[in-house]
Order: sequence, then C-alpha cells, then structure tokens
Amino acid sequence: MIWIILISFVAVLLCVLSCCTRRSRLASEPPLDKGTIPWLGHALEFGKDAATFLTRMKNKHGDIFTVQVAGRFVTVLLDPHSYDAVIWESSSKLDFSKYARILMDRMFNVKLPDYDQSAEKTMVKLYSQLTTTLVIWSLTRLTPAHPTPPHPEKGNCNSPGSQSTYLGLLIFFFSFVLRNSYLNISPVMAIARLNHSSPPPASLRNKEVKHYSRKLDNFMAELYKGTHILAEKKEAASVKEHLWRLLSPEQVDSKTNRSSWLNSYRLHLQELGVDNNMQARVMLLQLWATQGNVGPAAFWLLLFLLKHPEAMAAVQGEAERVFKQNGREVSPLYQISQELLDNTPVFNSVLNETLRLTAASFLTREVLQDMQLKLADGREYSLRIDDRLCIFPYLSPQRDPEVYEEPEKFKYDRFLNPNGTEKKDFYKRGKKLKYYNMPWGAGYNICVGRFYAINSLKQFVFILLNSFHMELCDPEERTPAFDVSRYGFGMLHPERDVKIKYKLKI
Ligand code: HEM
Repeated sequence: MIWIILISFVAVLLCVLSCCTRRSRLASEPPLDKGTIPWLGHALEFGKDAATFLTRMKNKHGDIFTVQVAGRFVTVLLDPHSYDAVIWESSSKLDFSKYARILMDRMFNVKLPDYDQSAEKTMVKLYSQLTTTLVIWSLTRLTPAHPTPPHPEKGNCNSPGSQSTYLGLLIFFFSFVLRNSYLNISPVMAIARLNHSSPPPASLRNKEVKHYSRKLDNFMAELYKGTHILAEKKEAASVKEHLWRLLSPEQVDSKTNRSSWLNSYRLHLQELGVDNNMQARVMLLQLWATQGNVGPAAFWLLLFLLKHPEAMAAVQGEAERVFKQNGREVSPLYQISQELLDNTPVFNSVLNETLRLTAASFLTREVLQDMQLKLADGREYSLRIDDRLCIFPYLSPQRDPEVYEEPEKFKYDRFLNPNGTEKKDFYKRGKKLKYYNMPWGAGYNICVGRFYAINSLKQFVFILLNSFHMELCDPEERTPAFDVSRYGFGMLHPERDVKIKYKLKI
C-alpha cells in the first residue's frame, strides 16, 4: 500500500514539475532533447557516464544540442573551432562565478559575503607561486631515514625484492599531495623537518586530514552532480565537520610558523567579515581545490611511464641530459631549479598526452541573458537566460579521432616534432586547431594553478625516478578503466588502484 502511495506521489510530482519545465525548441535554437522522464530528463544517464551519454547525443544531434537535466536545460557545444565564442564571452552573458558559487555551497557549504572572484583568484595565484620545496620534503619521507611509506601494504607481488615496499599507486599520490599541501600551511616548519631536526608537532594532525580528505573526495563527485543519496549526504556532512575542526582558525593559529600565504589569506577572509566557522570551511575548499586534481594526475603520469618502457627511457634520458648539461650529476633528493624545469620537451609531451587522456572537466557557464552564439562555421544559435552552456573538451578535441590518430592510445611523443620541439599543429575538418588539448581550460577562466601543478608534477617525477627503483607489482596487469561516474568533475580516477613496489637507489 505504502508503495502505491509513494509511486503515485512521485508520478504526480513529476507531472507537476514537467508542467513547470514545459519547453519546445524555437527554430533559432540548438536541437532540444528532453529525454523521456518528465523534469529529470537525462539526469540519470548524464550522471552515470557523461562521456557515453554526450557521445550518443552528438551522434544524434551534431556538435551542439540542448538537453534537459533535472529541470535545467544545458546546451552542450562540442566543436573546438567554436570554443572562443564561449571562453572569451563577457561574464555579463556567460558567467563562470555564479556556477562556482553554487558548487561552493553545495559541496563545501561555503557562502562568502561580497564574493569577488578576481580577489579570490589573486589569492590562489599567490598560493601557486609557493616554492615546490615541499615536494622534496615529502620525498624524504621515503628514504631509509623514514622508510615508512604512506599506507604500506603487505603486497602480493609475485617476486618481492627484500628491500622493496609495496603500496597502491593512487593512495601513494593522494597521501603525498595532501601531506604536501597541508604542510604548505606551515612551510618553514616543514623545511626544518627536511633535516629531521624537529619532531612533528602534535597539532599538525596530517594523518587525520589525509584520511578524511580522501574520504571526502569520494563523496565530492556525487555532491557536485547533485546525485547524492541522503545517507551519503549525511556521511559527507560528518566527514566535513571533522575536517572543519582540524582546519579551524584555532588549530591553524596554534602553529608557530604559519606560511605568509596562510596569514594573508586569513586576513583577507577577516576583512571580508567571514566568521571563524566559515573560515574553516573555506580552508577545506582551498585544500581540495588546489590539490584534488594533482594526485590523480600524478597517478596516471607514473602509471603510463611504468606501462610504457620507451616513454620511461625517454623521460629518464631527458632528466639525465638536463641535469648533466648544467654541470650537475643526478643526485637523489636534489632541488631542481626552474631553469631546468623549463627545458623538458619530452616530459612536457608525456604530461600533455597523459592529461589529454585523463583530464575531463566540464567548462560550465550560466547564461545570464538571452543571447546569440556564433559558431566558427557561421551557424548562429539563440541561448536562453537561466540555461547553462557546457563545453566538454575531453570529447573534442582530446578524444576526437578526427584530431588524433588512435585517440584512445597513449603515445608519449604525440606532442613532439621529429626535431624534438613541441608539436602544436593539430587539425579538424582540415583547419588548424587553436585549442587541441585543454586540460587547464582556456580563456578568461583558465586554471591559475597550472604552472604550480606542472612544476610539482615535474619535480616529483624527476626526483622519484632518479631516487627510486619503481616497478609495477604485475607488469602484465591491464591499465585500470576510468571511474565513469566522474566525467566532468576534473581529473579522472581509476576504477581500482594499482600496486607498485619501490626501493631507494643506492
Ligand atoms: C592537474 C591539476 C589541475 C587541473 C587538471 C585543473 C583544471 C582546471 C580547469 C579545467 C579549470 C577551468 C574551469 C573552467 O573554465 O570552467 C581550472 C580553473 C581553476 N583552477 Fe585548476 N586545475 C588543476 C590544478 C589546480 C591547482 C593546483 C590550483 C591552485 C593552486 C588550481 C586553481 C584553479 C582556479 C582558482 C581556477 C578558477 C580560475 C578562475 O576563477 O577563473 N587548479 N582548473
């Protein structure tokens, strides 16, 4: 009986909602696909595996269409020749920050009074100028002086070497980046610990932050899409509350050697009139926003290197060449200068190829007024106020067979010319593409942390490869599939972790 009442209630509710979102396509608008379920439209398919769903829509409607998703209408543009019309459009028409604010609230319960996107961006830029010295600090934790890796496992490698340690690659990187970032809150102290001279202060509860941050990340994709179920929402809330306590101003203030960045960020929040509760929430948002994508990027980068010996040899060769050119031997845990980091075309190609295959963000804008969207081939479409516009570079250009031969394959030298310089000419419909790989987005809202992320990844890989013997526990193991529920959410995660073993080079 209760089921009949419930089903009738849902049916009536959907009918009412579908009346509220009744809409038909005008001739000047992109093809409209509302799906079969009233109001919900394509929400379930979209949330389950956006890449497969959008490919299906593209095959049906072409490179621009509007779909209904949980009461909202989202226009999806998949022609990279036309992306300029979106990413350089005035924010009075296509707005990034309104949607960002919605996500801040939905995912992190953050509401900032007088939120000024450019002031926030400036603060993040300052953060990303922080030295990556801490990359080196983190690696010292894996030396004989500190042999305990994050979350070591009694591995089941077939031929374990006596000195080797086993662990999951994804866990390893998450642990690494979160340790790195949380300690960025107090870099001076972290550097002191590089010399192993000072004991870890009790107030720095890294393990807890790492543990809970990883847990939280698992909920974030659902919170982002708004597809979480009540139980998940409750658990996510309790994990967040725990992290807020760990990152509260009282905790942060109790540290004697706070970074100058943290001090100025705290001041900035105080000037905005943000209370202590909200400050802790903002800290968590910053931690997640600055680090959430770097761990999975490092995972895929190292996994592709371990799976492709020719790529590994090329990167190692470049690292040695670059070090030696500058009159220095490759030495473990050696701080790499910016000059060296800027001269690595092979590594850059490997990173670009890795991100081409695994960076899958939606670039989403709110349509703030009725407007016309002009595409590169002369087509023109009307967009309606309050709709959303979304670009998904992962599908095109990044995975587009017209742009890349065998787009699903990892080819480490895809972005290298035969003479070793960076390859930048890629074509679609016979026309050279301005945007052929977009892991960092483009236009007004291009990722402000990209140089920081690239530098960290580069330092990390070079130092790791120079200092450790690393192997996959099972070299024949297939590269894990993607967790398809995360399309649109940033860097893709693997469906499962991969075990590696490593030992320090002598
Ligand atoms: C592999 C790592 C990363 C990837 C793949 C990535 C990707 C992106 C993408 C695609 C966008 C554009 C979003 C849009 O246009 O809608 C973006 C924006 C942004 N990213 Fe990143 N990001 C990474 C790391 C970082 C880091 C380390 C930081 C901070 C230190 C950062 C801070 C930001 C900020 C603040 C924006 C918004 C820019 C604005 O307001 O205009 N990102 N990121």
